[in-house]
Order: sequence, then C-alpha cells, then structure tokens
Amino acid sequence: MLSRRNFITLAGRGGLSFAFANKTVAGVIQSFDTALLEATITIDFTNPEGTIDRAIYGQFIEHLGRAINGGIFEEGSPLSNKKGVRLDVLDKIKQLHPTVMRYPGGTFTKIYHWMDGIGPLNERRARPNLIWGGLDTNRFGTDEAITYSRTIGADPYFSVNMGTGTAEEAGNWVEYCNGIQDTYYANLRRKNGHMAPHKVKYWGLGNEEAAGPDIGRLQKVEDYVKEAWFYTKAMKLQDKSIKLILCGADDKAWNDHVLKEMGDVCDYISLHCYVGADKAKPASLFPHVEKLEKSILEIKQSIQANTVVKVTDFKKWYRFPPRPNPVKIAIDELGIWETGTGAYDLEDLYNWNHALGTATFFNIMQRQASVVGMATWAQTVNVLAPIMTSKSASVCQTIYYPMQFYREHAGNISLKCDVKTSDMQIPGSEGAKTLDVSATLNEADGTFTLFVVNRHPESAVKTRLGNIDSKKYNTVKAYELNAASILAINTLEQPHKNVVVKNEKRLSGIVSEYIFPAHSITALVYGKV
Ligand code: AHR
Repeated sequence: MLSRRNFITLAGRGGLSFAFANKTVAGVIQSFDTALLEATITIDFTNPEGTIDRAIYGQFIEHLGRAINGGIFEEGSPLSNKKGVRLDVLDKIKQLHPTVMRYPGGTFTKIYHWMDGIGPLNERRARPNLIWGGLDTNRFGTDEAITYSRTIGADPYFSVNMGTGTAEEAGNWVEYCNGIQDTYYANLRRKNGHMAPHKVKYWGLGNEEAAGPDIGRLQKVEDYVKEAWFYTKAMKLQDKSIKLILCGADDKAWNDHVLKEMGDVCDYISLHCYVGADKAKPASLFPHVEKLEKSILEIKQSIQANTVVKVTDFKKWYRFPPRPNPVKIAIDELGIWETGTGAYDLEDLYNWNHALGTATFFNIMQRQASVVGMATWAQTVNVLAPIMTSKSASVCQTIYYPMQFYREHAGNISLKCDVKTSDMQIPGSEGAKTLDVSATLNEADGTFTLFVVNRHPESAVKTRLGNIDSKKYNTVKAYELNAASILAINTLEQPHKNVVVKNEKRLSGIVSEYIFPAHSITALVYGKV
C-alpha cells in the first residue's frame, strides 16, 4: 500500500466527519466574496493533444471487505440471482459504462492463487484473507470475474501474484484464460464450461511491488525487474498478444529503471493516486487532486527518456514480439480516500465536493490523453466506492455521477485549452484555480464537448468562450450536474433520494459566453443543426 501514504496528506487521512465539516464549512462559506467571478477559455482546434483511449474509464474491484463478497456478489440475498450476483448493483455498474475491470487486487493479489477460484463451487478452498482480514470463499474467481466484466461491457484486467506466487503459475493462468490448443489448462477452462477462450488482454505484473510493509519480496527495483522479466516470458510465451502493465512507484529512480530495463516489452507503467481533503478544509481536495497531473507529467518524462517510440531491434529468440505501441501510463488505482467505516475504515461517504474532485480527475486524464492509456477507479462497490450496499438496498454516491457523465459526453480526441481563471482563494485551496477544464472532439459526429468544473462553493463564473467557429458550431446542449451544496450526500438510509440534480438545456446561435454556476460540473456539447 505504497501510494496511499504518498498521495494522501496526513490531515486528510485524519478524517472529515460530515457533521464537523458541515458546521465548519458553513462558517467559512459565509465569509467568501460571492460576486460573480470571470474567466476566459480558448480552445485550440489546430493542435490536438491526442486520442483518448476509452480504457481510461475503467473500474477496480478487489477481495477487500465488502467490495466483492457482500458487494457485487451475495449468495442467498433476495436481491441476487441464482449465481449470487447482486442484480441491483449489477444494474448500477452497467449504467456506469466501465470499459475495463481490474481484479483481484490490489494488495490482495500478492497472496492470491487463481487455481483456488476455479471449478465446481463445492470443491473450492476457502482461504484466510491475510491482507484485509476475514476469508475468501473463492466462490467468486476467474470465470466469475470474466463473466461479470463481459456482462458490464468491460475488458477484464488481471494482476498476477508476484509475492507468494510464481511465474509458472502466472503463465498457467494466461493459458487457462486464453489458451486455444489441446492443453491441460485450456482444457480445464473448457471442463469448467467455457469452451471459447476468454481473451483476457490486460495483465498486471504485480501490484505496488515497491511497498515495504506489504507481503511482497521485490521492493528493490533490481529484484522486481529480474522477476518481472521472468514473468513476462512465462506469460507472453502463452499468449503473444497480451498487454503487460509494469509496476511504477512514487519514485523517479524506480520508474526510470523499470522503463529502461523493460521498456521494450511492457505496454504500460502503473501509477496509483489517492487523495483526501485536509481536516475541515474541503477546498484542499483540489490541490491534492492536481498532484495527479504532476505525477503524469513526471512519468511521461521518464517514458520519453528511457523508452523508444517503436522497438526495432528485438531478438527473435524471445519468441514473442516487442510491444507494438509506445509505452503509456495505466492509472490502475485512482480514488478519493478519507476515513470511513468498515474494514480498514475504507467505506467512505462522499459529498458533492468529492464529486467535483472526481470530475477534476477526469479532466486531468482527458487533458493528458497522449500518455494516459488506461485507468481503473479504486474502487467500485463499498470500498472507496461510488456504489454502497446494505443487505436490502444500494445507493449511488455523489462521485458516481461525474464518472458516468464523463463517459457519456467525452469524444475521442483531446483538445488543448488556454484557461484564464482566478485562484479559488479559499482556506486550503493553495493556488488551485476556480475552473478546471478539458475539451474533447467527437470525430464520429463532429461535435465537441467542453467540460468545465466550477469548484467554487459559492460563486458562479461568467466565462468567455473563445475561438469557437460559429459557422461550424451553431447549437449547444448544456448538461449540468449539481447539488444544493458541496456537503450534500446520498445515503443508504434514504436510497431513493438523490441529492445530485441533472439540468439539461439547448442553446442556439453563437454561444461565446456562459455562466458556470457555483459547485457545478458542466458539459457544453457544441454541434451544428
Ligand atoms: O484500494 C485499496 C488498496 O490501496 C489496494 O489494495 C492497494 O493496491 C492500495 O494501496
């Protein structure tokens, strides 16, 4: 659990109880200057940042607390189907439209043996969950995770065990999932009812292997690289087409080393980022969220310095090809981590301010599309999650809505923007700007979308929108997400009450100015009638 410590301020982890925050924040808000603020956004249509890979809109699930057992999977529940899949949760995840689903961890990966979770249910071994407590019944394993991923429309992404596992075990897992020949593990899959190969494309080489206290044994980068090469060979020889994700760390020397040594065969280097707000200072969330962009740019530099765009001189004796595309970043754990309840205090309640932070995360990833190739939100249900469950109900937290919103409105090309906006000037905001912006073009239908998050808890921002060709774009649909205040929350106590309000309006003519309401998330979709 390396990144949590690195990315979350101690004060943030100290906790923000809503009752306390409510009182304190209300007091602070009264002293803000509530005058209409002003900004300018100029979009650059000539020099796009790059293509947005839809794989950045993924989710992560781990055998941790009530994330899987008691979250997406609850045998015997009246809300589940015969296989134990909670249908209310499934429906909510489907509507989130995730493109990738990472499994089974996280730190849990370091003790996970995939063979425990296949075959007849009554023969599966229950094991103690040595990482997070409780036990893993193994009744939800490889085939269930793949079926679940495909049902929600996502590509499965498995992380392999580099702690208590072996390279051979990882290679066998690839064979079980993807093998097409008449071989032992491919036949085992067929025997378990899956005749066609699962075609699992994404495979992570461990998880946070640099983390000292974890059960892993590869904290020295030289050890990690040596072992990761062995795993790469054992896995790629089973299926040449798989994409590998190397463990990055919050350490430039580590990243430079793994990229230099393994840059020819890895498709992605991972980046983990968790943030929280400082105690009683909700605006402090935004400078913490913005650390993501700094980290992305640092790793981008490491990629440029240590890898080639195209690998040309790869020895045929490896018996598999080098990576076909430039190395990208997989942000395979991204989340907001306050102090919650449940296992390891990970059941967090998120207010509307957290939703504004979530939207900022998506703006950052869209802005940095040329190097961010994948991301999986940590996590999905009950643990640091957009969806919470009880035995009888489930609810979408505030952060669910911006995730869904960006997936719905983003185009495939990232456009650069020049943004002139004031500093928030609110305790804790430390130079964070009032507006945060990204823009995308949709090549299929010719529309472009401007995403604007006004993070100010009180002031609307009158914004001039420059460089928009009125002949090309003469109609705008404005979609807005908002809530009554930054402290609004959705709770399991009132599962049908949604504090998140969706507004939608059509504007015609030249839209070169727009007022973004306080604490709003807006997508202006420009098109032509
Ligand atoms: O998402 C919870 C934990 O955070 C993951 O298991 C670990 O990889 C990270 O530190």
